[in-house]
Parts: sequence; structure tokens; C-alpha cells
Amino acid sequence: MPAWKSMLRGPQTPKRSHFSKKNEMSREARMERIKSGSSREHWRGGNMLYPLPAVMVSCQRPGEKPNIITLAWTGTVCSSPAMVSISVKPERYSYGILKETGEFVINLTTEKLARATDFCGVRSGRDVDKFAQMNLTPGKAVHVSAPIIEESPVNLECRTTQILELGSHHMFVAEVLGVDVDARYLDETGRFRLNQAGLIVYSHGEYFGLGKNIGKFGYSVKKRR
Ligand SMILES: Cc1cc2nc3c(=O)[nH]c(=O)nc-3n(C[C@H](O)[C@H](O)[C@H](O)COP(=O)(O)O)c2cc1C
Repeated sequence: MPAWKSMLRGPQTPKRSHFSKKNEMSREARMERIKSGSSREHWRGGNMLYPLPAVMVSCQRPGEKPNIITLAWTGTVCSSPAMVSISVKPERYSYGILKETGEFVINLTTEKLARATDFCGVRSGRDVDKFAQMNLTPGKAVHVSAPIIEESPVNLECRTTQILELGSHHMFVAEVLGVDVDARYLDETGRFRLNQAGLIVYSHGEYFGLGKNIGKFGYSVKKRR
């Protein structure tokens, strides 16, 4: 089972036989918990940091077709210089492209792009042209050779500075050299209304829209009028 899905089932319904021992122990532990009246379960360490963005990362080898890989293991890691990370399994078709070129674009995803986001995460560029199949438009980036996805509201043009071989995934730490934004989300004052773009998140195996606005940064310490 892929790592980003591995905690979906919880420990109770494992697929692989080598989990059965842990599962037996966990079932016993569950019985103990029920007996003790506790409302918490303790599971073995795993990936349960949600929600996350599900981004479409575009990449391209010179002279070859561009590709897109959907990633949830991604994050902002530094403000100055602006830096991000993406973690990719070496067996992905995109991995070799990312490693050789050292360049990629992180494209934010929206409700309109949700189907393409999922498709680019379950089909390989080894077999299909994902831009063509999903009717997406590769556009020219300013700083990198990888294309932007024009249908995305924000494209982060990235150049890799380090690759950390962590285990199942290798983390590409990269500098954000430039950001392309869809000018439709700029209001008359020039403010970027990103939250009106219909951004989506990925949480525990499912995609969601953003939901209602709860407050602004710092609202908890602002004086009420
Ligand atoms: C929501 C979602 C999140 C994913 N996150 C990752 C990830 O963070 N790292 C990774 O290596 N693969 C991730 N994948 C799997 C790849 O996107 C998938 O294997 C894809 O088909 C690889 O494409 P490629 O062979 O063209 O490179 C994710 C898939 C989905 C649907």
C-alpha cells in the first residue's frame, strides 16, 4: 500500500501479513482500552499529519514530453530565501526527471482541477501524456525549464538545492525562484484573492474544498469592536 495511504485503515485492517503480529497486539491493546474505559488509542508511528495540500508538480527533460506528478508530501520549509520541499519515491517516473533537471514547478490545485489532480496521482507518465489526457496547458516558466500548468492559480518555480535520501521517499529541498499567479484573482487594489480560487486539500485519503472562513491571522488577540 502506498505510504500516503498507509494510515487510512488504522491498525485494525492490515493487508499485508507482516502486520498481523502488530495487529494482534493492537487488538489486545484495544480490548485493554475498552476494559479500562479509556477514550484514546495509541497507534504505532505513521503519517497522520493532515490536512495537506495535494499539488501537481510539473517537470520535463529537455526534448521530451512534460509530465505531472501529484504530491501530498510537500511543504514550505523556509521564508527567506523562500524554500519548499517535495518528497518523491525513487520508483516514480518523475523522480529521474526531477533528479536530472533539478527543476520543477509546484502548481496549486482547485476544485476544478481535482479530477486532474487525482488522475496525475494514479497514472504514470511512463504510460500516458497527462497534460494531453487532462486537457491541461503547459506554459513557459520564467526561471526554470519545467512548464507551469496554466489552469492552476499559482505556480511556484523551483530549483533543487539538496536531495535528502530519507527512506521510502527522497526529499527535494528547493528554492522558489519565482511565483506565477492568475491575474483573475487580483482585485482592484492589487490584492491577491487566493482563497477565492477554490483551493483543495487532501486529508486521510480524500480531497476537500476549504470550507468556511473562521478568522484572520492574529484574530485571537485582536480587540473586539
Ligand atoms: C493525493 C495523492 C498524493 C500523492 N503524494 C505522493 C507523494 O507525496 N510522493 C510520491 O512519491 N507519490 C505521491 N503520490 C503518488 C504519485 O502521484 C503516483 O505514483 C503517480 O502516478 C506518479 O506519476 P509518475 O510515474 O508519472 O511520476 C500521490 C498520489 C496521490 C493521488
